[in-house]
Amino acid sequence: MKNDNTWFLAGAVLASTLVVAACAGVPSAQELDKIAAQTLGASFRDQGVAKVDRLVQDDANRECSAADIAGKPIDAQVGRRIEAASLKTVQMPPDGKFLGDWKLGEAIAQNGRGLTWTDPAGSVNGGNCYNCHQISKAEVSYGTIGPSLYNYGKLRGVSNPESGEAKAIVEYTWGKLWNARAYNACSGMPRFGHAQILGEKQLKDVMALLLDPASPVNQ
Ligand code: HEC
Repeated sequence: MKNDNTWFLAGAVLASTLVVAACAGVPSAQELDKIAAQTLGASFRDQGVAKVDRLVQDDANRECSAADIAGKPIDAQVGRRIEAASLKTVQMPPDGKFLGDWKLGEAIAQNGRGLTWTDPAGSVNGGNCYNCHQISKAEVSYGTIGPSLYNYGKLRGVSNPESGEAKAIVEYTWGKLWNARAYNACSGMPRFGHAQILGEKQLKDVMALLLDPASPVNQ
């Protein structure tokens, strides 16, 4: 199957499958989900760094998809279980330092490259944060899927994060970046540390963008 046409063809296959399914009776949401998964599985192949195993859902993905399909919020107990398990995956920086260079963090937040089949193996990923968040005022092009992070540290009264003064906020922010599900079971934010999208040094630089009082985010 040609790469450019994958989605179009997947759509066509899905549509024809649905017509057949509809003749045999209306498929349930679960059956439709199964058909969609099979169609996706048959329509993609490994290419470069983009591997088909990305279609495999982990437990949290599966539980959150099931809730979505049922049109309900995640069951509170299941949600708490996902959050607790996600929090356990968070690896704090071994040297106890959470903040790097906000200027490098800004470049990472701006950079949406990485993980596609055209990216050479071993290339450095971006964080793509502006795709979902307002961050610094200088950037006027941003998405609104996530909340604005402008004045992130300032609004939380963080004036000297290196002193340990704002430990709870600093650790929460690190955990959120490492694995967003630790604080919101069905978060739509990429799990930057957990999924090895960003490395420890990159995470520190992004932390500085959000929390360093000298960062334009907190002016
Ligand atoms: C695909 C969209 C998406 C991307 C990309 C994304 N985020 Fe988020 N982010 C969200 C959403 C949605 C929320 C709110 C829901 C939640 O808490 O998970 C959020 C929440 C947050 C929060 C918590 C805010 C608070 O007030 O507690 C922080 C901090 C954050 N994002 C930082 C970042 C940074 C830094 C990056 C880039 C490295 C980033 N996000 C990339 C969607 C995204």
